[in-house]
Amino acid sequence: MNFADNFDLIPDPPALEEYLALRKDAGLSQKTPEQGAAALTGSWFFCHVRDREAGRAVAMGRVIGDGGWCFHIADMATLPEFQGRGLGRRVIDTLVAQIRQGAPENPYITLIADPPGRRLYEQAGFTEINPSRGMELPWVRS
Ligand SMILES: CC(C)(COP(=O)(O)OP(=O)(O)OC[C@H]1O[C@@H](n2cnc3c(N)ncnc32)[C@H](O)[C@@H]1OP(=O)(O)O)[C@@H](O)C(=O)NCCC(=O)NCCS
Repeated sequence: MNFADNFDLIPDPPALEEYLALRKDAGLSQKTPEQGAAALTGSWFFCHVRDREAGRAVAMGRVIGDGGWCFHIADMATLPEFQGRGLGRRVIDTLVAQIRQGAPENPYITLIADPPGRRLYEQAGFTEINPSRGMELPWVRS
């Protein structure tokens, strides 16, 4: 399937409902509209792929960053029925190209690689952070 004949790469966020649906349908944790709205407006760069025939967002990814040196890639998701067609690769290559183009030399580009994304990220040139480890703070209501 030819990308240019079927899809458009849009250098902007999808609509809020599309963002929430993409996360949910790709099997990522669900977010509230309040959380989603902040993701759409608060990112350094966002892009998504639209299926021309269906007229909807089918893949996305974004960069959270300071614009100086620290950039974190998040929300990589492709709808299940569109996976394995190279859309994720398009998205991550676009995010990295945007960082290369818009950031000073030597940016620090990170992501948390869930198992479904590992192969894609390795293909795009990412390596494990050794000996460092990604960590998170489990949320406990006070
Ligand atoms: C990870 C994800 C975004 C990849 O999107 P995609 O559009 O299918 O990616 P591509 O078609 O460009 O595939 C890139 C490579 O990843 C591999 N890949 C794609 N989906 C995969 C999956 N579910 N499991 C394992 N590998 C997968 C492909 O085989 C391909 O490698 P290949 O070229 O050697 O065949 C997509 O699988 C997804 O949305 N997964 C669920 C959500 C998720 O886990 N997101 C990652 C959070 S870190």
